[in-house]
Amino acid sequence: MRLDRFLSEAGAGTRSEVKQFIRKGLVSVNGSIIKEAGSQVAEEEDVVCLKGQPLSFSKYHYYMLHKPAGVVTATMDSRQKTVMDLVSDIPVKGLFPVGRLDKDTEGLLLLTDDGVLAHELLSPKKHVDKTYLAEIREPLSLEAVSALRQGVDIGEKKKTEPAKVELLEEKRILLTIQEGRYHQIKRMLKAVENEVLYLKRLSMGSLTLDENLMKGEYRPLKESEIEALKKEYVHDAKRESAEEKTAGI
Ligand code: URA
Repeated sequence: MRLDRFLSEAGAGTRSEVKQFIRKGLVSVNGSIIKEAGSQVAEEEDVVCLKGQPLSFSKYHYYMLHKPAGVVTATMDSRQKTVMDLVSDIPVKGLFPVGRLDKDTEGLLLLTDDGVLAHELLSPKKHVDKTYLAEIREPLSLEAVSALRQGVDIGEKKKTEPAKVELLEEKRILLTIQEGRYHQIKRMLKAVENEVLYLKRLSMGSLTLDENLMKGEYRPLKESEIEALKKEYVHDAKRESAEEKTAGI
């Protein structure tokens, strides 16, 4: 396969953008800088790097970010720092965050360019567990625990679905919910006359925040993590039909 095609299919940019990268000497194959866009690479064997970072030839890309507080979950914002600013050196176009964490919430955020997986993970029908660590203003009363477990009124038509509640310490709890309503955890605690002082997402479905990632750091998902998410949530027939729709077939 031509080097420029490899790069653009690996998500590094459009064909003309990657040709510029090659011309500028930013691309190496097996450790040697290559300046010919048309030179041939063996996609399964050669190690192709852009700006020193190895690219893998896969159609879709998946990263976990340890979101710090103080950045907004958006692809663009004219005034505030976004999660995409934290991953700007990933040489993949079209990444977006799967779901949203509030500006002051920390923790696991999945970034991908796989629209089908993102759609499935966010679909209420899929009942994907999301577990949060919350530090709260006051210890939870037994009534509050039972209300959260049954579902609480957060001022919408429907109560929240039952949540899992685990008490870690007096004012530290784990809450697992399957929905993703706006400010949901904060509003659930408010509904039981309490308040979230600190919030961190620990997991989403089978994906758990890597403890070795410092706030603001990210890493690509391991093959096993990608496979586990897909196995749980994406049926190939669904992917094929969604991709056919996108391609206008
Ligand atoms: N619930 C919230 O209140 N905030 C988040 O960021 C995520 C869940």
